[in-house]
Amino acid sequence: MQSIYLVGFMGSGKSNVAVALHQKLNKQLLDTDQMIVDTYGLTIPEIFQQKGEEIFREYETSVLKQTPIKEAIIATGGGIIEKAENREWLKENGKVIFLKTSWEEINRRLVDDQSRPIWNNQDRDKQQLLVERTPKYLEVADLIVETDGKDVHSIIEEIADKL
Ligand code: S3P
Repeated sequence: MQSIYLVGFMGSGKSNVAVALHQKLNKQLLDTDQMIVDTYGLTIPEIFQQKGEEIFREYETSVLKQTPIKEAIIATGGGIIEKAENREWLKENGKVIFLKTSWEEINRRLVDDQSRPIWNNQDRDKQQLLVERTPKYLEVADLIVETDGKDVHSIIEEIADKL
C-alpha cells in the first residue's frame, strides 16, 4: 500500500482522521508537525517565534521527505502544499486525500484555538489564505472528501470505500 497523506486547511480534521484511519487499517501513524517537534526540539509556536515561517517551511519539507512512502498514514500541516517542491513530491510518492472544509466550518472548529501561529496572527487574512491554498490542495489530491457536517467515522468509511 502507498502511504496515505491527509492534506487540508487548519481545522479540516487531518489529525483526527489520521488516527481513525490508522486504527481501521492498522498502519503506522505519523504527523509532520509532530515529526518537526521531535526532530528540532521546539514546539510549533516556538519555531514560528524564534526562527520564522520560512525556516518552519524548510523543516516541514525536510520531514515530509523522511516519511515512509509505503504502509503509513500521515497527517500533514495545513501549509505543506505551499512549496511547489512538496506538491511535486506528494503527487509522485503519496496517495493524497484532501479534507475539504468550508470557511464557516473551520471558524466554528477553531474558535477557541490558541495553538496555531498562523490562525492566531491577527495580521493574516486566513479566509484569503484558504482561497489561495485551495487550488494547491486540489492539485495534489487523489481523493477529495468534504467534511462539513460529517463525523470522523463517516469520513473514514467514505475514504475506505473510495480508496
Ligand atoms: C500551518 C498549519 C499547522 C502547522 C503550522 C502551520 C499552516 O498544522 O503546521 O501551525 O500553515 O496552515 P495544522 O494544519 O495541523 O493546524
